[in-house]
Amino acid sequence: ALHKHPKELELASNGPLGKFDTGQLQRGFKVYKEVCATCHSLHMISFRNLKDLGYSDAQVKKIAKEWAIKQPVFDEKAGTWGERDNLPSDRFPKVYYAGTGNPPDLSLITKARHDGAAYVHSLLTGYGEKPDPAVAAKFPEAMKTPEGMHFNPYFANLNIAMPPPLVSDDQVKYDDGTRATIDQMAKDVSAFLVWTAEPTLQKRHQAGLAVVIFLLFATGLAYGAYLTVWRGMK
Ligand code: HEM
Repeated sequence: ALHKHPKELELASNGPLGKFDTGQLQRGFKVYKEVCATCHSLHMISFRNLKDLGYSDAQVKKIAKEWAIKQPVFDEKAGTWGERDNLPSDRFPKVYYAGTGNPPDLSLITKARHDGAAYVHSLLTGYGEKPDPAVAAKFPEAMKTPEGMHFNPYFANLNIAMPPPLVSDDQVKYDDGTRATIDQMAKDVSAFLVWTAEPTLQKRHQAGLAVVIFLLFATGLAYGAYLTVWRGMK
């Protein structure tokens, strides 16, 4: 492959018993809202789903109402399109992007890419990093960045249409005291995009644990039954 393998990313949701860190998800949502949402939609998620992150009904209502992109509505009488404020039951509205390239919907991006969350973190923090020297020597053509594109060693073909979105520390103001370094913002938004791709991940992990415990118990019971049935047999 031309591109570098993503850097390891430690998240609370990793592993078979991983849980969501709701504080981190809230910070990640803030990064999405203030940085990514200008270009990327999140169409599989409804505003009310944000309650999973620990927001109250009133907070969700406010977030929906104040969302910069409104819901399109068709006025039957006038025969024209208008818009209204978002409601908690609405999906995040589609984003119309006028720049170069085509920003994908981010709802499922951590599932669509191999090593999804680690990839997003590496992509966001990888601008300005050098390519693998062996790759650079072998594929000099791929090292040339076309006009309007940006070199990023983690992107599949090394040159991406997305300009670096996270460029300075404290670009987003965190309200939980966490230092908003570029690396931290990249981690938090990656964690958030794990949640958007699978909001039920934690329930799946808990159900899996219950199943394993039950199977251990059932195995013990079966073994007990075996001992009883065969007692005294030669
Ligand atoms: C592509 C994430 C902000 C424009 C992507 C991809 C991801 C991503 C994961 C897909 C790369 C792939 O196909 O493997 C993010 C995140 C952002 C952010 C997490 C906020 C922190 C922005 C902003 C813009 C933008 C602000 C517009 C100014 C694009 C474009 C592409 C893209 C045009 C398509 C690139 C290509 O296919 O060459 N972004 N993005 N992104 N993003 Fe962003």
